[in-house]
Order: sequence, then structure tokens, then C-alpha cells
Amino acid sequence: MQVPFFTSTREYMDHKAELDASVQSVMAHGGFILGKDVEVFEQACARRLGVRFALGVASGSDALVLASDVLGFRDGTEVLTPTFTFFASTSCVARLGGKPVFVDLDEETLNMDLHNAENRITKATRGIIPVHLFLQSTDMGQVMALAQKHNLKVLEDSAEAFGMETFYDGAWKSAGTIGDAGVYSFFPTKTLGGYGDAGLLVTNNEELYLKFKSYRVHGSSVRYQHDYIGYNSRLDTMQAAILNVKLKYIDQAIVRRAEHAKHYRDRLSSIPALRFPTILPGNREVNYVFNILSERRDELAEHLKNKGIGYSIYYPIPLHLQKCFAYLGHKPGDFPVAEKVCSQILALPMFPELLPDEVDYVCDAILEFFGIAHFHVIPGTGITGAGCSISSGMVR
Ligand SMILES: Cc1ncc(COP(=O)(O)O)c(C=O)c1O
Repeated sequence: MQVPFFTSTREYMDHKAELDASVQSVMAHGGFILGKDVEVFEQACARRLGVRFALGVASGSDALVLASDVLGFRDGTEVLTPTFTFFASTSCVARLGGKPVFVDLDEETLNMDLHNAENRITKATRGIIPVHLFLQSTDMGQVMALAQKHNLKVLEDSAEAFGMETFYDGAWKSAGTIGDAGVYSFFPTKTLGGYGDAGLLVTNNEELYLKFKSYRVHGSSVRYQHDYIGYNSRLDTMQAAILNVKLKYIDQAIVRRAEHAKHYRDRLSSIPALRFPTILPGNREVNYVFNILSERRDELAEHLKNKGIGYSIYYPIPLHLQKCFAYLGHKPGDFPVAEKVCSQILALPMFPELLPDEVDYVCDAILEFFGIAHFHVIPGTGITGAGCSISSGMVR
């Protein structure tokens, strides 16, 4: 058996007629730049996320740069960002001349360690970018308290967090809607993924929204009049047409991801040499990525490869050790938790259309690697045997 780490083709085949019709309608009406499809998507996202304003942009990375620019994360100001995240969570500040101030991560949740963040605040610190990684939100109660105490702007990198919710200020809120602004990515592998690059910026602040909207089109709100030096970063109308269809099925997709995660956990949690990230109370998680951590990560990855199983490593090198950030003067050992997690983390196949048999095949391979015999009950017989994937019974 071959198990892909990710594929969009099964989903496409499930919704082919609707997706084709939606894309074809764009070609038929010919309004390729912004327009109705984008507006419909923005409004549907605002409703789904419970936020006042949503603005479609070209990618999650662009959304981060645009928001960093508007929030003033530039020209020497210091901004707290995790060292364990995707590059774009930090490059957005660096490319505007701001100074990324790296923060270590919490080993249990894999999100930013907020005690470490507070210790790194100086007089020049103006902002914080909490990144809601893989499956749960950063503790926004703590982030907002820190922001209030030190007068920081908060830009939530929710690129991976569509659908995640966190209990904040007495109510469940969508990750990304609590700080000054939030950013989502619709990169194809994401929980809500387009068929190309796409992103979204959200905020409850009308003034910020209007500025973001202007920055999206060359700093212009009236054609050929430029109030700011903005960008060209519009959500592509074809992507909006695809995302409008996919948004209808998002809850179903999230449930299927949760079922696969439970399946993995049920079968793998008895392996002493494996660890899973801990989900803290006050979180409604979304399994965008299913990670395991092992001291034998590289050997295990090789084993999975030999078995025809796709995997990914998010992230192999923490940002403070990336060549492009050498000017910040960090060295190995500066952020020990991030460095350890980078050497242990491994993401298993996770997408809604994954089949239970495929999850079983991955689990069998992992159990085999750790030398744990797994047996299967042949239904109706009570007979145990190896090699079929019907039950998840395990013996040591
Ligand atoms: C945490 C995080 N931030 C930012 C991004 C950038 O988003 P995009 O790929 O849409 O530019 C991604 C995803 O790729 C991400 O995972």
C-alpha cells in the first residue's frame, strides 16, 4: 500500500461537479479581479469566524507582510515571534526592517512560551505575533494580558488555524479574531485549502480594515489615487470560486480530520517512546497536522518511506538558526526547546479523505518500527492473526 501525506484529488472527485461549475462561472462572467466571488467568500468567512471584517489577499504570507506594515512592525521596532514556526511568521517583520525577537516554545503545546516572551520584551518592543500551530490556539488570554501590560499590537498568525476555537473572555472565539488582526492561509494543504495560493486578513477594527483594503490595491481606495505605498495582493477570483465551494464542507472536513486523529491516538498512544502534543483545556482543536515526537525520528521517517508512507517534518530547523537570520547573532542552544522539538517532530498523513485502512497501515508500520507486535481480530471468529487491519488490538 502507498499512503500519501496529502492529496487534493480525492476531494476534487467528491465535489467535482460543484467545483467545475464554480470555476467555469468565473470564466463565463469574466470578472477575474476581485468581484462578487471574492466578496461572497469574505462575507462567508466573516460569519464563520465571528469577526466584523474579512479581506481576501493573495496568500497567508502576503497577509502577514501587509498587516505588519500597517501595524508598524517595521524600521527597527522589535516584534516577538516564535522561533518554531513557518518562515513567513517572521520574515514579514524582517523584510520591513523590523527586528524579529525570537521566543522559545512550550514543549507540551508546541505554541509560543509566553513566559519566555515576556522576558524578551524591551523598550523597543511594539508587537507580538502568536502563531496558532498545527492544532490549537496559543493562550490568547495570556497574550492579550501581555499586550495590554506592555502596549503591544497583536497580529495573530492563524494561517494553520481555520476552525480552531479558544475560550476567551467568557466565550468561544475563533483563533485569529482576538488580537488587532488575524491572518489565514488557504495554501492547498491547509484545513481550508485552495487550489493554489490564497489568504485572508481579519479584524474587528474598521479603521484597520479600511487601511488593509487600501494596501491590498497599491495603497489606493480611489482608482489611480495612492494614499500609501501599498501592494498588489488580491485574493484570486478563481481561488475564491473554489473556496466558496469548499467552505460549505468545512465542518464535515474538520470532523473527518478529528476521526483520523482519534484513530492514530487510539492505536499509537501505548508506545512509550512516542509523544503527542498536549491539547490544553479551553481549546477546540482542529487537526490540521497530526504530529508525533520521537527521539528516533529520522530512523522512523526512513522506515515510513520504505513502507510507502508519506510524512513531513514541520519544522526541521528553528528560525533562529536559519542562514538569513544570522545577522541576529543567535547560536545553537539559544532556544533549547525549539531545537529539541525540531529534531523529534514528524507529521503523519492527515487529510479528510484518508481511509481508515490507510491510517491502520501507518499505525502498523510505526508499531512494527518500535518492535511492538500488533494483532488483529478476524471478525466473528475470535481468531487473532497478523497482517490484516481490522481491529486495533495490541500486545507487547
Ligand atoms: C504558520 C504559518 N504562517 C504563515 C504561512 C504562510 O501562508 P502562505 O503559504 O499562504 O503564504 C503558513 C503556511 O504556509 C503557515 O503555516
